[in-house]
Order: sequence, then structure tokens, then C-alpha cells
Amino acid sequence: MTLDWDDVEVANKWLSNRLSWQDATVVSQYEAEFARWNGSKYAFAFMGGRVALSACIYALDLQPGDEVIMPGYTCVVVPNAFKWAGVKIVYCDIELDTYGADVTQIESKITPKTRAILLHHLYGIVCRDYTAIIDLAKRHGLKVIEDCAHTTGAEYQGRKVGNCGDVAIYSSEKSKIFNTIQGGVAVTNDDRLAARIKEYYDQAPYPDEVSIEEQLRNVPLEFYQFKHPQSWWLGDVYYFLNKEYAIYSTSREEEQGICPAHYGRKMPAPIAALGLNQLKKIDYYIKCRRENAKIWQLWCEQNGYKQPVVIAGSIPSYLFYPVLVEPEIKQNIRWWGFKNFNATVSDWFTSHLHPVPGHIPGCKNAEIAIKQCINFPTLNQTCKFPGS
Ligand SMILES: Cc1ncc(COP(=O)(O)O)c(C=O)c1O
Repeated sequence: MTLDWDDVEVANKWLSNRLSWQDATVVSQYEAEFARWNGSKYAFAFMGGRVALSACIYALDLQPGDEVIMPGYTCVVVPNAFKWAGVKIVYCDIELDTYGADVTQIESKITPKTRAILLHHLYGIVCRDYTAIIDLAKRHGLKVIEDCAHTTGAEYQGRKVGNCGDVAIYSSEKSKIFNTIQGGVAVTNDDRLAARIKEYYDQAPYPDEVSIEEQLRNVPLEFYQFKHPQSWWLGDVYYFLNKEYAIYSTSREEEQGICPAHYGRKMPAPIAALGLNQLKKIDYYIKCRRENAKIWQLWCEQNGYKQPVVIAGSIPSYLFYPVLVEPEIKQNIRWWGFKNFNATVSDWFTSHLHPVPGHIPGCKNAEIAIKQCINFPTLNQTCKFPGS
């Protein structure tokens, strides 16, 4: 929904200019711009938030046998990054105010082998136990990784989220706050950790030309399907003619916990150019999301549903507006979501390690969220960056 015609133009320009695809200056420009916008000292761009996470795991020197504590309510690609580094994952439960890790749960899972905590801010909302988790980590000498994949642009005490822990990751995958089809950024404010992320980065290859082309061709594909004013018919036609380029963010291998051959790529110039264009518009779209969230706040008030908690000192960026509804409603969401709400409602997450089915014992609140949390959209087709 944040892709406009000007993004299609950027993609087309790079499709007809293949000689510059290895131009590292555009990427450095994107990284510098993201770091500036995010208020972070260093930023490194990869081909996914998950790859940015692998870079952070490398930077923190997490070794096989080390333990990380993370919420048992996330996307499967998050634990995969630890699994592939040999790090033992210890899951903790979430709280149901903001869907973040519950600090008391984390504390009960700390062992002599614990080296790091991954906290996440889901759906664009700053997690309830943010400072408590950071303090807990400090007391135990643990590193903190902030997963801001959903929450780019949210603020806490006047700073963008992701600047309180040791390292943080962001995602520009097509369903997120900003969109380069696939992409992610790792940030840190620590010189030594930045040097380590850079080591990982320098060893990472760029994607091959076929994947870059596929990704650029997804820009018009997404635009015609979801943003063009006549997407209701043009989207299908354009998709039918170009469906061989459609990208699925998580491969079947990743769902099975197998590291794909193409994993671990850093971001090449054409995708960074899309990122730069998206950064010009990101504040506008976050403002739209905050405005539209009010519609769902009111809906909750009028229909007797609990609103997600906005912790003191925070401003969400509202990737979605999450609400706990009756399990029967969530089960039928695909069938009747649009009809009843006049909006495309989504159902993240549908399992502990979405989208892979399976049970993680001891995560009772996560089970409730899996059965009951639906996500109302905060952007629609009519939100369009002025002049784009
Ligand atoms: C909570 C969370 N963290 C991290 C990621 C990974 O981001 P990316 O798709 O850019 O690799 C996702 C992906 O959806 C996610 O939902």
C-alpha cells in the first residue's frame, strides 16, 4: 500500500540500467539515510529483516550452545536465523496488552547459558515491557536484539524504537511499514558491534541478476494489484500476464527450517534506490496509519473490544490495528472479514511460528492470540502520497 507510481518509475529506470546494479554508492546512501531517519549511528541493508537478524547474531558472537530467549509468537524466519547459527532457542510467553514478550516470563527462563534476549514490537506497537526487558538484560549481562520488523517508525521517549537495545532489525518486505518488496536493515549505536555487522556484510554476496529483476518486476505487480485506482480489474489482468515474477516472502524450505541456497544476501543498488524513494514518503504513510488507527479505536469502543495498549511515552506506527475477537470470528476471517468490516482484515499470527503449525508449550497467552487476534488495516487504496 505504500507503493505509488513513482516507485514503479524507479523500478523501470533500474530495469533499463543494468550496468549500475553493483553500484555500492546508492546502497551507502540508503543506509546513511535510514540511519539518519531512524536516529541510529549505523545501518546495514540486507535482502530481508531475517538476514539482518543473522548479521546481528554474528555480530553478537552467539555460538552453538548459547541460549536466546524470545517470544513464542512470531514468524518462523526469526527462530530460523538462530537455529542456523546453532543457537538454542528458549521460548517465553507474551502479554496480551501489546503482544510483546512478558518480562516475568523471560526472567524465569534465564540460565547460565543465556546470552541474549530478542524482544519484538509487533503490529507497529511498542511492547509493554520494553524498559523492564532492557533493565533485566543489563542486570544479567545479556545482549538485547530488538525485532522492529513490524514497527519501523514507532517512537519511545522521543526516539525511534530499536535504539535502546544492542542491535535492531527492520523489514521493508512488501507487507510492512515501508516496501522494497523484500529487504531489511540492521542498526546499532555501538562501534564494535557495527564493525562486526560490517564483517558479515562484507562477506555477503548480492542477489543474482535474475532475483533482482524478479524483485523489480514485483513493484508494478504489487502496484496494479493493490494500489492502482482500478486494481479491481487491472490487478488480475496484470497478475495473469506477469505471475511468473510473483515473489513469496518465505520459501517452502524456510517453512521446513531448511536454509535456502539464496539466503544471506545484502541489498543491491536497485533495491536500495526503491528504499530511498520509500524513505521520502515514510513519514506521510505513518501519519496516515496513525489517523486510520483511530477508526478501529472507535470500533473497539463501540463494539466492546479491548484496544491494544499504547505505553506511556510511546507513539505506535500501526502496521495494523490488532484486536482480540472471539475465536469463531478469527476462524472465519477469510470468508467474511471484508463483508463485515469493509476492509481487508488479516490474521497474523495463525500459529506460534507463523505460518508453520505446531505447539510451543507454556505459551498460554500466545495461544489466545493465535486463536483470537485479528489485524485491521491502517492503510487503504485511497492513501496516496501527494504528487506521486
Ligand atoms: C516479527 C517478524 N520479525 C521479522 C520478520 C522478518 O522480516 P523479513 O520478511 O524482512 O525477513 C518478520 C517477517 O514477516 C516478522 O513478522
